[in-house]
Amino acid sequence: MKAVEVKNRIYWVGAIDWAVRDFHGYETPRGTTYNNYLVLDDEPALVDTVKYDFADLMIKNLRGIIDPASIRHIIVNHIENDHATSLDRVLQLAPAATLYMTERAKKGIGRFFDVTGWNIKTVKTGDRLKIGKKTFLFLETPMLHWPDSMFSYMEEDRVLFSQDAFGQHIASSARFDDDYIACESIAELNDAVLDYYANILMPFGPLIEKKIGEVQALGLDIDVIAPDHGVIWRQDPGRIVRLYLDMAGGKATCSVTVVYDTMWHSTEQMAQFIARGVEDSGLECRVVKLRATPVSVAIKEFWKARGTLIGCPTLNNIPFPTIAQFLTYLRGLRPKNRLVGAFGSFGWGGGAVKEVYAAVRQMDLPAYEPGVEVLYRPGPEDEQRCYDFGYGFASKVKEYDRQF
Ligand code: FEO
Repeated sequence: MKAVEVKNRIYWVGAIDWAVRDFHGYETPRGTTYNNYLVLDDEPALVDTVKYDFADLMIKNLRGIIDPASIRHIIVNHIENDHATSLDRVLQLAPAATLYMTERAKKGIGRFFDVTGWNIKTVKTGDRLKIGKKTFLFLETPMLHWPDSMFSYMEEDRVLFSQDAFGQHIASSARFDDDYIACESIAELNDAVLDYYANILMPFGPLIEKKIGEVQALGLDIDVIAPDHGVIWRQDPGRIVRLYLDMAGGKATCSVTVVYDTMWHSTEQMAQFIARGVEDSGLECRVVKLRATPVSVAIKEFWKARGTLIGCPTLNNIPFPTIAQFLTYLRGLRPKNRLVGAFGSFGWGGGAVKEVYAAVRQMDLPAYEPGVEVLYRPGPEDEQRCYDFGYGFASKVKEYDRQF
């Protein structure tokens, strides 16, 4: 098997997870990869590991390049399970290796393993590790996206090992951005970036801006960004940084997403009338039925658009469960800069639309009120009400979007 050289004796030794479709509850229709890297020099170093089920594959990749026993240093950029749960397997082969991680990572790693006998050195921003001619510079990135997280930068080769940041959940035989674009498309790659950002990094926009600012202030030249998932950015690493800055700044398309679910098609009919109103106002409208769509995809569509309308039937006086799940998931992602409205049908006392608005206020998002409610089934007069609601919402979205 041919080794994958990222740059100048830096090798990808990770694993491709073609089959994963449920990544801790997040739908991954394209699968993913667990990237880790071997850096050859006088004292070989490994950057991160892989999810435990893929440890054998990683070790096979290592053996194709060196005897794993010769690994002297293991850099642990992030201790989440998909990157650190093979550490024990590597240490069985290279028991004398020193591990480098942040103080917070050291506190956390002992919850995953019995670390007795492990040689752990904590590092902080600005610390360096020389492994021969090559030097690692460490940069702490707390809450990007875990408390323990850090970046490692290979100074001589200008390679940034960015753990989850700049990643994508893509399983492909293409290891690099240019190869993936050639065999798929740039639109497909952009969609994967957006999906990953929306579902994992949405809460951390201000931190992302700050951390990218710090990296820029350090004047680090970056030829390659090597994340722990998906393709490695070598063609134009500045492009993914710009994309991140745009997203962190709240960039959205001036369009509308309608996320709904339905019991007996009444809320669904409302969604269709509303979508016509949005379209006639001149904005693009995407309609997402929750029971037919993974919640992570609905989140991506929410994040893409400047405005979202949430269609929710009332069930037993409270919101329909799939919408409640969507709202809970969304709340954790701490969305910003998106206008939201609500609509839905009811049969008894109603209540769902009111609760959706309460959730929107709790998230501190601007609300478009009042929403539209329909008793049992939409009649001819409701068709017009829904259409006008969609049209009016889209007009407000255009106005709101002007401030960005
Ligand atoms: Fe890919 Fe935060 O783990």
